[in-house]
Amino acid sequence: MKGILLAGGTGRRLYPLTAVLSKQLLPVFDKPMVYYPLSVLMLAGIREILIISDTESLPLFRRLLGDGARWGLRLEYAVQARPGGLPEALLVGRDFIGQQPVCLILGDNLFFGQGLPDLLRRAAALQDGALIFGYRVGDPSRYGVVTLDAKQRPLSLEEKPQDSVSDFAVPGLYFYDQRAAELAAGLQPSGRGELEITDLNRLYLEERRLQVELLGRGIAWLDAGTPDSLMQAASFVQTVQERQGLMISCPEEIAYRMGFISAGELRQLAEAMGANDYRTYLLRLLSHPD
Ligand code: DAU
Repeated sequence: MKGILLAGGTGRRLYPLTAVLSKQLLPVFDKPMVYYPLSVLMLAGIREILIISDTESLPLFRRLLGDGARWGLRLEYAVQARPGGLPEALLVGRDFIGQQPVCLILGDNLFFGQGLPDLLRRAAALQDGALIFGYRVGDPSRYGVVTLDAKQRPLSLEEKPQDSVSDFAVPGLYFYDQRAAELAAGLQPSGRGELEITDLNRLYLEERRLQVELLGRGIAWLDAGTPDSLMQAASFVQTVQERQGLMISCPEEIAYRMGFISAGELRQLAEAMGANDYRTYLLRLLSHPD
């Protein structure tokens, strides 16, 4: 399975933080935001990843992440000239995807919790249809929302409904079979002038090929698109990391634990960094493996 990380958009709700810097490069406590969704793809075992952003920001992502080889990844880059909606990622990435299934993740979505790596690995085995998630939130009208029947099968999908029909938001993490780009190509812009990911998901629902897996309360799903949610995400990461002495979404650690890089390669990465807490953490992983 291939991965696409969509890291464009205007960052309007975070202005002026985003006046000269892409939202997905802003810090979430001790790491750039993009590290968090990238880590999710890595935990799913996905190593061929396309990063999509706007013309100005793309060189910065390239400088930060490079070709991915140091983390055992193959990263490619593509431009989304203007934010025309989330399904555009599949159109921009059409050649990159080829005839493979694909996982799309939004660059401002953070996931953390017990059982997440297993769940991601299972999801990445998808060959037919689509798999999305449902997550109970207090303010569903901010999100795409899924309504479920008594057996938790999806009945309907709506994008930012005014009157809440369900408390289950759909997080920005989508697994699709190899038809996703073709289906996205047939979508029409919504009233707000964008292609809607909810419309793509509805096509799979109409074919009865949409699975929805509920993420329980043991999993944290955060987005970081407003000043409040950015601050909350940073506090969450700080609190959990300090308590456990373990990092959330450290790509070097995940690359090592997933077997994408060896202990020697992890040591080289750490030693090439200036002396700081991040480096100390990586070196400690080598001396205290668990
Ligand atoms: O966070 C999950 C939600 O993401 C879903 O529940 C919704 O169904 C989905 O539409 C989306 O809603 P948002 O209102 O958060 O979408 P937004 O337009 O803010 O875009 C999400 C991220 O994707 C954001 O970081 C910017 C980036 N983006 C967005 C668009 C429209 C792009 O890179 N390119 C785009 O064309």
